[in-house]
Amino acid sequence: MKALIVYGSSTGNTETVAEWIEEVLREGGLDVTVKDAAQADAEGLADGYDWVLLGSSTWGDEEIELQDDFVPLFDDLDQAGLKGRHVTVFGCGSTDYTFFCGAVDAIESRAEELGAKILGDPLKVDGDPDRDEVLNWARSVLESFIGGKA
Ligand SMILES: Cc1cc2nc3c(=O)[nH]c(=O)nc-3n(C[C@H](O)[C@H](O)[C@H](O)COP(=O)(O)O)c2cc1C
Repeated sequence: MKALIVYGSSTGNTETVAEWIEEVLREGGLDVTVKDAAQADAEGLADGYDWVLLGSSTWGDEEIELQDDFVPLFDDLDQAGLKGRHVTVFGCGSTDYTFFCGAVDAIESRAEELGAKILGDPLKVDGDPDRDEVLNWARSVLESFIGGKA
């Protein structure tokens, strides 16, 4: 089973979360690829993967802004081949802002619109990521993935 984790991160928080998720998925026996959104191309992004995990932090204040590197991916997400594929969304933010982790909601809605099968509840991290919180969430979403495949 092949999983792809794509993250957009400005100060490293969502990147750290992506690495922790990768750890859990590898322990679970998945073949995992991790890509920084800055180096990822939307076209055919999901091709060949059984599960795609998309992560972005949230910026802006008056309105929801995705992390800079994730914006081009989001704009061309219709070319990523998400239809019928398992997709899970995560990201970092802060409850100090009006739209807490608004990017996570925006990506999940868009993926759903494009026919993705949303797997698990999204992970919304408030402030500095907590390793145990992330590992527990990843284990639970991995169980759903494996359960759905069984
Ligand atoms: C100028 C600015 C605007 C922000 N806007 C939001 C926001 O609208 N919603 C939110 O949940 N977090 C917001 N944040 C918090 C960041 O998303 C948070 O610091 C996050 O951990 C950054 O993750 P990254 O290092 O992966 O980019 C904002 C932070 C700054 C400095």
